[in-house]
Amino acid sequence: MVETVRFPDSPMLQGWNTPVRSETEARDLEVVQGAIPAGLDGAWFRCGPEWQYPNRFGQEIFIDGEGMVHAFRFEDGHVDYRCRWVHTQRFELQAKARRSLFGRYRNRYTNDPSVEGASMGTANTNLVWHAGKLLALKEDDLPYEIDPDTLATIGRYDYGGQVKAVSMSAHPKVDWITNELLTYSYQAKGDATTDVVFYVIGADGRVKNEIWFDMPWPAMVHDFAVTPTHAIFPFFPMMTDLEVIKQGGPYYQYHPDKPTRIAVVPRGGTAEDIRWFEGPATTAGHMLNAVVTGSKVELDLCLYQGNCFPFFPTDKGEATAPVPPILTRLTMDLESNSGEFAQKVLLGAPCEMPRTDDRYQGRPFRYGFMICMRGADGTSGVGRLDLETGQLATWAPGANAGVQEPQFVPRRPDAPEGDGWLLALVNRLDQNRSDLVVLDAQDLEAGPVATVRLPVRVRSTFHGVWAPAEALKTGLYDMQLVA
Ligand SMILES: [Fe+2]
Repeated sequence: MVETVRFPDSPMLQGWNTPVRSETEARDLEVVQGAIPAGLDGAWFRCGPEWQYPNRFGQEIFIDGEGMVHAFRFEDGHVDYRCRWVHTQRFELQAKARRSLFGRYRNRYTNDPSVEGASMGTANTNLVWHAGKLLALKEDDLPYEIDPDTLATIGRYDYGGQVKAVSMSAHPKVDWITNELLTYSYQAKGDATTDVVFYVIGADGRVKNEIWFDMPWPAMVHDFAVTPTHAIFPFFPMMTDLEVIKQGGPYYQYHPDKPTRIAVVPRGGTAEDIRWFEGPATTAGHMLNAVVTGSKVELDLCLYQGNCFPFFPTDKGEATAPVPPILTRLTMDLESNSGEFAQKVLLGAPCEMPRTDDRYQGRPFRYGFMICMRGADGTSGVGRLDLETGQLATWAPGANAGVQEPQFVPRRPDAPEGDGWLLALVNRLDQNRSDLVVLDAQDLEAGPVATVRLPVRVRSTFHGVWAPAEALKTGLYDMQLVA
């Protein structure tokens, strides 16, 4: 019997989440309100998962799915849009077989035997523009290089053989001032290994420095933070157990009885120089920023007092109740011998996908941008938190609409911190399509300065990157800090 494609009746695949599965090219999107600011010149690349085929075990979770890259090219008041699949090895194998061949999330022991040894990466999480290359990222594999104009997949990329880790993080930081790429791999020698490697890659794409060390357990390390002097790695009690995955179980299990540990890694040091700090069981996906002042290391992140991924059970196989993400500052004192980190809530209301003005990554900063006001009905808005005053400014697209992760774009390379635009995709839940809004980042409450209408639904993008036109040409960012 011929096996045709039929997605299961699952809330994960219905309504706004109905699979899109198609590539789109739309030149000159309609600007239905306001005008695109004249200085907005560059490309906004975004990446998210899309369903190529129903999961072979009916185990769809929202962080799985094949990578789809979206590009919004801003030029002379116009916006051109394009989206294309990332042609990973996994995507190609499934396309040829016309069915799902890869099983439970990241669990190679549940794959179809025909794909044994194949690369499992989905390239579905984020992109980075560095040293003249656009890379699509997912933390379970090496990056895939993408043509920035056509979005065609060029191929899997190991930095010309310089990177020995089996995977690279989807949350690298490009230092917009030094043009260095700061990135890492965890479980860097394979499933359930405790190897971590921190890489500094120069503006020329050459690895300048790498530090290998062991994490306390085979953790999930979705994001990290960097400063000019340190890299900060949180290790939450979300762990991989090789025996469990060999038996077809979940790739991660949450251990509520275990601690959170944080490694403060001196960028010029070795594994022996790492300082370790500990606190109660928590989890987090995303860091806002980190700053080192004297002996104090401050890490600001959207922290969950429990399991942030409820689709991963506890080590006892139990489901966990959802907990809200709360923007929290963890402080580690390098002069303290207690080995404990302190917690301080920065914003009482839940928020996620926190971003800075990228010029201020790792440096003293004032503003954070994020998704906030998330309702159970999928509604949400964007926010700008002033960490100096504690004031939160917001804009929400209203009923039946939500937003995806916002992107800050400086008005000029030498504009003061936070002076520029905030870009956000709006999910028009009742219209089954998307808008792109451009907001004045210093005046969110005034509403969009431009609303760009998409004829299609951009179902899900996790993260993205802004590449100014100049950086697209030269491969280098020409940005400045303003005191
Ligand atoms: Fe992420």
